[in-house]
Amino acid sequence: MNDTFLRACRGEKTDYTPVWFMRQAGRYLPEYQAVRGKVTFLELCKSPELCTEVTLQPVDIFGFDAAILFSDILIPMEAMGLTLEFHEGRGPVFPEPVRSREAVDNLIVPDPEETMPFVLETIRLLRQELQVPLIGFSGAPFTLATYLVEGGSSKVFLETKRMMYQAPELYHGLLDKISRCTSLYLQAQARAGAQALQIFDSWAGVLAPCDYAEFALPYVQNIIRDLRQVTDVPIIYFANNGATLLEHTRTAGADVLGLDWRQRIAQVAAQVPDHALQGNLDPVALFLPEEKLVARVQRILADAAAARGHIFNLGHGILPQTPPDQVRIVVEAVHRFSRSA
Ligand code: CP3
Repeated sequence: MNDTFLRACRGEKTDYTPVWFMRQAGRYLPEYQAVRGKVTFLELCKSPELCTEVTLQPVDIFGFDAAILFSDILIPMEAMGLTLEFHEGRGPVFPEPVRSREAVDNLIVPDPEETMPFVLETIRLLRQELQVPLIGFSGAPFTLATYLVEGGSSKVFLETKRMMYQAPELYHGLLDKISRCTSLYLQAQARAGAQALQIFDSWAGVLAPCDYAEFALPYVQNIIRDLRQVTDVPIIYFANNGATLLEHTRTAGADVLGLDWRQRIAQVAAQVPDHALQGNLDPVALFLPEEKLVARVQRILADAAAARGHIFNLGHGILPQTPPDQVRIVVEAVHRFSRSA
């Protein structure tokens, strides 16, 4: 069992820097496309055998130091009673957005074992196969709520902020329900065998710091506080585009902070010496020529030398257009240069 990733999460000394990529199982891999060609995305998410297969693909192909459960942050939103659709080229769609008191009241706080057994079964199957740690995950309540209120992806988050500003009690009620669901869901993942948990706050960066402090952070804190009562697995909090939020995100209670590429790890390490740090190569930097790509990797490794622990990752999910050979170059460079450091 290769536990380098878990040791780095805990800030322990490691022989080399562990590496995994957000969205490492996905469309840039022909092997994923082959599986996905036979089923819809939601069918894939609900098949433990197929989820296990596509979770293992990038680990086997590139030698990543951790696997991330194949699923989606929106799966528990379906379990809360909403209709969820994935449209080709448009992403997730909630045909009936949550914008009223009635819609919030109708949301269920589901029992994960009953409503999402396929996720927990995938975790159990993966633990039998894997030689590296398995990361479970969820979305953060604010990020999940944006999809519910907007009815899908958004650019300016008008409906979200309108509810936040015009009906703050209703919005808090929605966040409270989502966070109770998320809390139970992550606890169930840990019980099923997830060895670390990452909370994705993909849209945190669209908030003013004061709104983040009121509407996003407290719910993440509650989830992590609940988790600490029942499990000691490392918790990673990734607030995308979060450079302006660091004074807040550092109080979330996580062991590891995920960083996007807009800030330098060395600076964050100086400000947050009590957390391990994860990141932060720009996913589009995977389109650099090899020599420049390797130089970027080395720069990030040098930057991270000051951190309490470092897990190499991208600053956000890998893009479907990425050539797989570029991934291989990064994984090998992280392993080689961090070992000799
Ligand atoms: O490898 C992994 O990281 C595990 C699987 C994973 C997926 N989604 C699979 C997926 C994870 C961890 C996620 C998280 C997720 N899902 C986030 C947070 C991370 C981030 O990128 O900010 C968000 C915001 C979502 C919601 C979501 N799911 C969107 C916006 C989309 C459409 C955009 C896109 O990339 O297609 C999805 C669909 C999705 N989730 C796909 C995959 C592999 C593509 C579906 C397909 O095969 O057609």
